[in-house]
Amino acid sequence: MLNKIYKFKNKKDLTKLIINDCRSFLSFILQKIKKFLDFQKVVFFIDENLKYKEEYKDFLKSYEDDKNEKDTTILYLKINEKEKNFFKLENIFSIFLKNNIDKKTLIIIIGGGAFSDTISFASSIYKRGISFSLVPTTFLSMIDASFGGKNGVNLMGVKNLLGTVNQPLAIFINPYFIKTLRYVDFLSGFAEFIKYLLLNNKLYKRFTGEFSKFLNSSKLLTSKFTYDTFPCDQLKEFFIQNPKFFLYAIDIKYKFIKDDIYDFNKRHILNLGHTVSHPLEIVFELNHGIALYIGIILELQIISKICKNAENAIKKAYNLYDNFKLPIDIKQALKIEKNITYDKWLLEKRLDGKKVIEKIFDLIRQDKKNFQQYYNLPVILNSNKIILKKIPFETFDYQFNSVLNEMLS
Ligand SMILES: NC(=O)c1ccc[n+]([C@@H]2O[C@H](COP(=O)([O-])OP(=O)(O)OC[C@H]3O[C@@H](n4cnc5c(N)ncnc54)[C@H](O)[C@@H]3O)[C@@H](O)[C@H]2O)c1
Repeated sequence: MLNKIYKFKNKKDLTKLIINDCRSFLSFILQKIKKFLDFQKVVFFIDENLKYKEEYKDFLKSYEDDKNEKDTTILYLKINEKEKNFFKLENIFSIFLKNNIDKKTLIIIIGGGAFSDTISFASSIYKRGISFSLVPTTFLSMIDASFGGKNGVNLMGVKNLLGTVNQPLAIFINPYFIKTLRYVDFLSGFAEFIKYLLLNNKLYKRFTGEFSKFLNSSKLLTSKFTYDTFPCDQLKEFFIQNPKFFLYAIDIKYKFIKDDIYDFNKRHILNLGHTVSHPLEIVFELNHGIALYIGIILELQIISKICKNAENAIKKAYNLYDNFKLPIDIKQALKIEKNITYDKWLLEKRLDGKKVIEKIFDLIRQDKKNFQQYYNLPVILNSNKIILKKIPFETFDYQFNSVLNEMLS
């Protein structure tokens, strides 16, 4: 078991992180919270997709022995990216009301990023705030979405337009959950990990070194130790066997947010790739991480053209994408996630290339992190130092238009 307490600048904010791979996980959580938290009632909100998986039958039953100790309720709900919106909130509030959720209740949210963003937002504003803990069940939510306190829903086509920053009391990670993730969901989560590798050279060296050692000793690959497609099963197994990497990833996120939890400055560094990927995610209806792969590449290409001494990051990214066989442009992303060519997608959506680019530009300007007349973007210098640079709209848009046209031509 790995344990860590993360403290934030605001003294009252503190998150306890616990990593454990035991199979009777609900029971484990109830035992843990009994020790460090005092609530009269516990309500588990669980992603309905987990309910029907054979792998989780025991896990979901495991709480039975402990439930009498506290008033415990289990509720199943379905929230995907399309439902991560304002309208879903009313449904959640009616469930809260029906189950008498109040200040003495602890809500435990078990699911991926879309699920936890929505319910933790609802918990944060219901009766001016109900305490909650998170059990991330996707790779992305384990290394990113569950940590840092950001929650929210999409509104009027803009990602995370409504939201708060409110820390969970505890985060319980069980790496075993990643085993049942669909290929595309795991690939999507790995994009945030790639972002950390680009932001932190120490993690980059540690991970690439240990993963290649793992492959060489792995029984998963028999005759040859190379792969032609994204090594999904190998990476899943690697992370399950090496849970310390969840901690390393979260430590990097912590470094950038601990003094800036409300996202005024340093936390923007974690936005690497997202300024471009958010509009792509909405326009092409892609998974968060699949769009992020393209956002990272486009942003780094643009930065390398605009800023001096910042061309190494894009080279490093190309290297990583090549090594792990990651999607590098929109056409590949559409093929991987939707098995459709770009031309066919345009036909289906009754759009032409020019209209698509216009839509992307409309959305990028609405990104809430943009101030006045410039984007505030992270720049990874060749020295590995990372700075935030204010780049005027015209300068960025000129380059963005050029790389986008090149990609979609
Ligand atoms: N709050 C933050 O700081 C933050 C950071 C990054 C991303 N996000 C948000 O996270 C969301 C993306 O999250 P995500 O990548 O977890 O995707 P997701 O929540 O959309 O989940 C993807 C799919 O995986 C399923 N699933 C969940 N756990 C599973 C498991 N163990 N086995 C099999 N299937 C499982 C879900 O039911 C869903 O169908 C986006 O909305 C993004 O904006 C938030």
